[in-house]
Amino acid sequence: MNSELLRRARDYERDHIPAVPPALLPRYHLCGGVGWINDPNGFSLYKGEYHLFFQYNPYDVRWDTMHWGHVKTRDFLRWERLPAALAPDRDYDRDGCFSGSALETPDGRHLLMYTGVQKTLLPDGTVEELQRQCLAFGDGRDYEKYPGNPVLDGSALPPGGSRKDFRDPKLWREGDGYFCVAGNRCPDGSGAVLLFQSPDALHWRYAATLAASGNRFGRMWECPDFFPLDGKRVLLLSPQEVRDHGPEFIDGNTTLCLIGELDPESGALTREREQPIDYGLDFYAPQTVLAADGRRVMIAWMQYWNSVDYRPEPPLPFFGQLTVPRELRVRDGKLYQTPVRELESRRGAAVRCAGLTLRDETRQVPGVSGRCLDLLLTIRPLPGETLRRFTLTLAAADEHGLRLHYEPDENTVTVDRSGCGLPDSILNRRSFAVNADAALRLRLLLDRWSLELFVNDGEQAASFVLYAPQERTGIRFTAEGAAALDLEKYDLEFD
Ligand code: FRU
Repeated sequence: MNSELLRRARDYERDHIPAVPPALLPRYHLCGGVGWINDPNGFSLYKGEYHLFFQYNPYDVRWDTMHWGHVKTRDFLRWERLPAALAPDRDYDRDGCFSGSALETPDGRHLLMYTGVQKTLLPDGTVEELQRQCLAFGDGRDYEKYPGNPVLDGSALPPGGSRKDFRDPKLWREGDGYFCVAGNRCPDGSGAVLLFQSPDALHWRYAATLAASGNRFGRMWECPDFFPLDGKRVLLLSPQEVRDHGPEFIDGNTTLCLIGELDPESGALTREREQPIDYGLDFYAPQTVLAADGRRVMIAWMQYWNSVDYRPEPPLPFFGQLTVPRELRVRDGKLYQTPVRELESRRGAAVRCAGLTLRDETRQVPGVSGRCLDLLLTIRPLPGETLRRFTLTLAAADEHGLRLHYEPDENTVTVDRSGCGLPDSILNRRSFAVNADAALRLRLLLDRWSLELFVNDGEQAASFVLYAPQERTGIRFTAEGAAALDLEKYDLEFD
């Protein structure tokens, strides 16, 4: 039974999505058909199709009381829009259906687990906020909230856990039972990821604290995901209020990947590695699905919370995009990510060029331009000569463009999107160290409003939104010193 609030959201979608000019939308990155989106939710395989939900305010390009928007796909690239799945229509979620996850139950139902937010004005004038985990069962289109909601609340928390910051359950089945991880805040005010266990997904008990910040790594920890991969255990999470945690990590809302094993005594994750998940400016709240063929596929919100108040001029009808889904691997103890292989089937004719030499010059290559493409580059200093800096300019016109600099002596890559449609007052530049002894390999996915960069076959990824006008399609290569360049460029084709 659909509530008035859900009907209103669905009617709004029906009346407004068809009117959005497709030329304003990303070509292959997912956004809301209208309104605002943030975190991906409920990424799951249900009856042979991948369903994905997202934090959603259909009515405006700003965050407001959260709904769940809904799409599905078979190939991770072409998404079919479905009507909004959840609206904040019960007392226990009246202030928002926050992030969560989904799975197919053994009896063929699609189970969503999300955080219901409820704020109450207390007699003393203060506001009490409760975040509790709730369920909804459905058929891949319509969902009924479970009458016993909420199913997991503050009473299950270990001593001193926060009832206000308790959110974003990631659910999975293992053996005969269910597990979920959720973000919480410890008595020291900083974040933790807690593990809960249930025989039936309805009754939950606390099992262990998988990891905690101890005020060392930001404050609240949001949107955890936890899974085995290549013989290790991987915990993805999104810490808030990170400050000065070394050059690898961006301040503010950032992302963290912990790789290790489960300690059989404490149930905690041993930490063999701590790394950012993405080295760009716009990446948050990733969530994964285990694909039918065994791949672990991740998608994330391609946006930085700290810059959500800035809008492109002229305005776009949507706000918030998701990354291209990425295949994850653990190799040499590190997280590797590559765009889903399905993307290769969208490649048009190739432009290839090997051993192009550049000496203190800027070049354009015939056939290499555009704003919807898959570009592979290998950059090497020429033997016996020096390469001080190599610059790739994308979305180029006149002196404008997004610049990617590679400085071999420093082993750094810097991406600078200044002048690409976002104000100078926000963070537009990001540098990170790369491994490049003999050559640096880059893969760039460019879309109307974004760039995703993959370094050295997925050893690092970096995501950026950009709002440069679409007429800016130039691509330039500049060497300060001498460089050899191999290049492979494909337009990406979508109907
Ligand atoms: C992360 C987050 C989640 C929360 C949701 C609300 O971006 O803050 O913790 O569930 O967004 O929209």
